[in-house]
Amino acid sequence: MRIVLVGPPGAGKGTQAAYLANNLSIPHISTGDLFRANISQGTELGLRAKSYMDAGQLVPDEVTIGMAKDRMEQPDAAGGFLLDGFPRNVAQAEALDAMLQDAGMKIDAVLDLEVPEDEVVKRIAGRRICRNDSAHVFHVVYNAPEAEGVCDACGGELYQRDDDSEETVRKRLEVYHTQTEPIIDYYKAQGLVTTISAMGKVAEVTQRSMDALPSA
Ligand code: AP5
Ligand code: ZN
Repeated sequence: MRIVLVGPPGAGKGTQAAYLANNLSIPHISTGDLFRANISQGTELGLRAKSYMDAGQLVPDEVTIGMAKDRMEQPDAAGGFLLDGFPRNVAQAEALDAMLQDAGMKIDAVLDLEVPEDEVVKRIAGRRICRNDSAHVFHVVYNAPEAEGVCDACGGELYQRDDDSEETVRKRLEVYHTQTEPIIDYYKAQGLVTTISAMGKVAEVTQRSMDALPSA
């Protein structure tokens, strides 16, 4: 199955993607995680992406689309994938459709995670991520690790993202409304979108998402 997860920053895309990808045995492909991996490895792509990310802006399409395509062409993605953070504007959605069409494939479902803006701010302010594995995501109040600053899953150090300052989050939300939300209508025209309330417990949101998928 090929699934796109959409939702504002802090909606819980990464959190849900980890469970959904595991349940469905498909890779979780996050363009944000790919950029952060490039930044920590000091690659040219990472250097280029960092200034946009720190400003809460989208990384240019010519960088992003190629990177996403390379990842989707890896052998583990041949049977399907869960996209988190891509596509993020209509040009990326069109490029993705063209890419899949060339390969005789298509997107099967789009899950639109909905969460009020004040909740987004609370979720992002308290988010802590493991340095060893970006799938290990915690929250200081909602999903606190047993020991402060230490990952429950692997013992790694937890850190706060550079783009999680209040000012940058505000910018990311604005970019989400102006550039990313239009892809929801783009996919609605294809009959692919289910809107999911991302409020409540993580497991409840996972269940709603699983229930919304075609074969679930
Ligand atoms: P990206 O990494 O994709 O960030 P984002 O979309 O802003 O989303 P987040 O990762 O902030 O939030 P999330 O929805 O995954 O929430 P999470 O699960 O962590 O992108 C970062 C930047 O990269 C962009 O700004 C852009 O510059 C660039 N970029 C990436 N893709 C791009 C593209 N395609 N084109 C151009 N540029 C691109 O959850 C948040 C917190 O809430 C956590 O602490 C979690 O524990 C907690 N939480 C989760 N669920 C619940 C719940 N149900 N109840 C309570 N707390 C919860
Ligand atoms: Zn960890």
